[in-house]
Amino acid sequence: MNIGVLGAGQLGRMLALAGYPLANRFTFLDTTGHPSAGIGDVMVYTDQHHLLDDFLAKVDLVTYEFEHLPVALVQAIEERKPVYPSSEAIRVCQNRAEEKALFDRLGIPTPAYRLVEHADELEAAARELGCPVVAKSVTEGYDGKGQAVIRDPAEAHDAWRAIGHPRLIVEAFVDFVREVSIIAVRGRDGEVVFYPMAENVHVDGILRYSLAPLPDLDDAVQQTADDYIRALLDELDYVGVLTLELFQTRDGGLLANEMAPRVHNSGHWTIDGAVTSQFENHLRAIQGLPLGDTAARMPTCMVNVIGREGDAAELLALPDAHLHRYDKSERPGRKLAHVNLLAPTHAELLDRVRACAALLPEAPAPTFSFE
Ligand SMILES: Nc1ncnc2c1ncn2[C@@H]1O[C@H](COP(=O)(O)OP(=O)(O)OP(=O)(O)O)[C@@H](O)[C@H]1O
Ligand SMILES: [Mg+2]
Repeated sequence: MNIGVLGAGQLGRMLALAGYPLANRFTFLDTTGHPSAGIGDVMVYTDQHHLLDDFLAKVDLVTYEFEHLPVALVQAIEERKPVYPSSEAIRVCQNRAEEKALFDRLGIPTPAYRLVEHADELEAAARELGCPVVAKSVTEGYDGKGQAVIRDPAEAHDAWRAIGHPRLIVEAFVDFVREVSIIAVRGRDGEVVFYPMAENVHVDGILRYSLAPLPDLDDAVQQTADDYIRALLDELDYVGVLTLELFQTRDGGLLANEMAPRVHNSGHWTIDGAVTSQFENHLRAIQGLPLGDTAARMPTCMVNVIGREGDAAELLALPDAHLHRYDKSERPGRKLAHVNLLAPTHAELLDRVRACAALLPEAPAPTFSFE
């Protein structure tokens, strides 16, 4: 099976690494001009139709690792090859307004929000919702880019200019206990499996640590998250891995932040920490194969390596540490690698995470909600 992947970054690279044991081959179509997968067959798309024809001639089915793609392109591909998940999933997930409307329709709670198209509307929304609020561009955001926290309505005009986008979503700022995510996989036959939820630590809008399973998570909270993501999967007739980012509030409730129609950074722990990784399960799902066990093998933490790499030999000397490098050059804020750490108990895991962070020049202090 030759799998076509739209996007060609580290997520695509890790998909390919998971697919080689299944004798899959990979052809990537990059639309950014900066592919970094460094694996498989990489084509750079430049609106030339023969290039799309060449890509489609090579592949049996198409998936993606990047959602900021023209929907029309995905629809055109869908007319000629099977695409999993569908162009409808990408249309909804690349647009925060569509995403929130779907959450509302399915009864999935979210932070209070307004859509605005003018600086004055942004100021009015900040007043109505009550500061602080977070303003986000409706499309194209990632790693906290295209966002601003507004602490006083008087800051709205500056925030509007700084974001520089014609349509924003403004959300009440959630005083969360922790950020969590749920990753689930739906097969072509509608079977759904769920990973244990992870706690995600962000600094300046960028994910730094994901840890799973959580030692203090009520079964009822996992069940609620499972129900939310199952509703989304079924509604979208989704095939593959879907990620839902959530805020957990003081009363134990969950508010949906956003979703990603693909394998996700908060699921990288599954490569070494789960019986079947998110990457393998995504490939199984889109090929109509049985889904693999999602159970965690041990408490696991993923440490993102951002901006500057640490010394590989020192990192690999840590017990049960697994380094996954993306073969990219160093640049401030750029995701370069991650380290998965496993330990028999959460206490030992936290010791290993601290030891790992001490070896990474740019790593913030690791702190988790359950410490
Ligand atoms: N309403 C909110 N209340 C509190 N914090 C928020 C809110 N919205 C976003 N944040 C913080 O900013 C981070 C990034 O926001 P969000 O997930 O919407 O953006 P993103 O740029 O799409 O991120 P990514 O795609 O990298 O996950 C969140 O993980 C959270 O830490
Ligand atoms: Mg996010």
